[in-house]
Amino acid sequence: MKKSIYILNGPNLNLLGAREPDIYGSETLADVERRCAARAKTHGFDIRFHQSNHEGQLVDWIHEARSNGLGIIINAGAFTHTSVALHDALKAADVPAIEVHLSNVFKREAFRHHSHISGAVSGIILGFGVTSYELAVDGLVEILKGK
Ligand code: DQA
Repeated sequence: MKKSIYILNGPNLNLLGAREPDIYGSETLADVERRCAARAKTHGFDIRFHQSNHEGQLVDWIHEARSNGLGIIINAGAFTHTSVALHDALKAADVPAIEVHLSNVFKREAFRHHSHISGAVSGIILGFGVTSYELAVDGLVEILKGK
């Protein structure tokens, strides 16, 4: 089986496009998936794109990426700011990971300024809207090609 880049999305990102469009924009998660698949394809990579509102499901996908994936791009949504479990799963993943956010969390409420997962990833991209994901694909590919 060909290994893929795992792109994981956390809580409330299923509402992208409808949810606070002034902050997150009007594109849907399906649009994000299309953009990421196209970007990955230009580099010769496939993606597996998932979203869940449940922390444990995200942990399970990180474990899956450990054996079936080349790397992980993760927008953990609000779990970014709360989840030691996602930190531990990413630490154990043994594949490179990139943390992504649509918004510039540092311009927002103080509770968004701390990330539990930043210490477990290779890089962080935030504040570029949906383009953050495409930049993350480029960045992860750079890491993978350098390996
Ligand atoms: C987010 C930022 C988080 O603080 C927030 O809880 C989200 C989305 C972003 O992509 O900007 O759900 O991860």
